[in-house]
Formats: sequence, structure tokens, C-alpha cells
Amino acid sequence: MLDAGCGTGRVMIRLAELGYDCVGVDLDASMLAVARKLAPGLSWIQADLAELDPAAADIAADFDLVVAAGNIFPLLAGGTESAVVHRLAALLRPGGLIVSGFGLDEAHLPVPPSITLAEYDAYCTAAGLAFVDRFATWNADPYDGGGYAVSVHRRSAT
Ligand SMILES: C[S@@+](CC[C@H](N)C(=O)[O-])C[C@H]1O[C@@H](n2cnc3c(N)ncnc32)[C@H](O)[C@@H]1O
Repeated sequence: MLDAGCGTGRVMIRLAELGYDCVGVDLDASMLAVARKLAPGLSWIQADLAELDPAAADIAADFDLVVAAGNIFPLLAGGTESAVVHRLAALLRPGGLIVSGFGLDEAHLPVPPSITLAEYDAYCTAAGLAFVDRFATWNADPYDGGGYAVSVHRRSAT
């Protein structure tokens, strides 16, 4: 799996402990320095998700899963959201999943809201990702229209 915007590795280190083969990507060298210190044996790549090139990063574009946890999309530079979704979609194998959780209102974000679910779904559709499901939490509680959503999309199997 690819941890998109892995930060200090909070999510990825746990997934690696659970046995997943993981790669973490983040723009911020200081966050990656912490991740590398916490888990030096894992794969941490410094790159901008809006420009992530698998060949340059020396990764295969056949991930089963991309996880974007921790408000990655609202924290992107404005105007790059569509490019990031396209880059992440291109890293998935056919049938692979992208799971993205982010806040939608001021109560669930450290920054002003900048992306709606309708916009995120439209970027996914344009990138060839079909909607699978949406939850209110990472524990898969049903989504009820609230201010935080975890969305699951799938790359077409062909
Ligand atoms: C709130 S942190 C979440 C970190 C981690 N996913 C977690 O849940 O603990 C958001 C991360 O997104 C990263 N980020 C923001 N824009 C990025 C971009 N264009 N490319 C790569 N990483 C980015 C930041 O550097 C930061 O580490």
C-alpha cells in the first residue's frame, strides 16, 4: 500500500506492523526525518503528490491500496487536488482502492474547508475511480452527512 502524505508515519508504521508492504510519500523533509527515525527499515519517499512520478521515485505503479489519512486533500496547495487524485489513481493496479479521510467543515479541520465531497468524487470519476462506499469514521460507521468522511474509490478492473 501507498501512504499518501504519510507525515511521521503514524498510520503506515502500524500497517507495516500488521504485515502490509508499505511505501510512504510526503513532501515535508522534517516529517519524513521523524518517520525514518521511528521506522528506518520502511520505505519513505520525499515527493510532491501532485508530481509523483513512479519511475523517478523507483516504485512500481501497481499498488493494491492508497491511503490518504489525516486531511491530506484539504491540506494540499489549492488547485492541485485533481492532479493529486490523477497521480494516485495512476499508481493503483486495476481494481485497486484509494481510501481517503478528511474533514469537510471548520469543526473537523485545522484549515478552512477547501474541498467538498462532490468535488472529490468528481476528481475521482475523472481519474477513472468508481465510488465504492463512504463512512463517517475509520471504523466504518455509516456516513450520515456529517463533517468528516472516509471515502473509498476503486480503479476499474480493466
Ligand atoms: C496532517 S498530516 C497527516 C500525516 C499522516 N497521514 C497522518 O495521518 O498522521 C498531512 C501531511 O500531508 C503532507 N502533504 C501536504 N501536501 C502534500 C503534497 N503535495 N505532497 C506530499 N505530501 C503532502 C504534509 O507534509 C503532512 O505531512
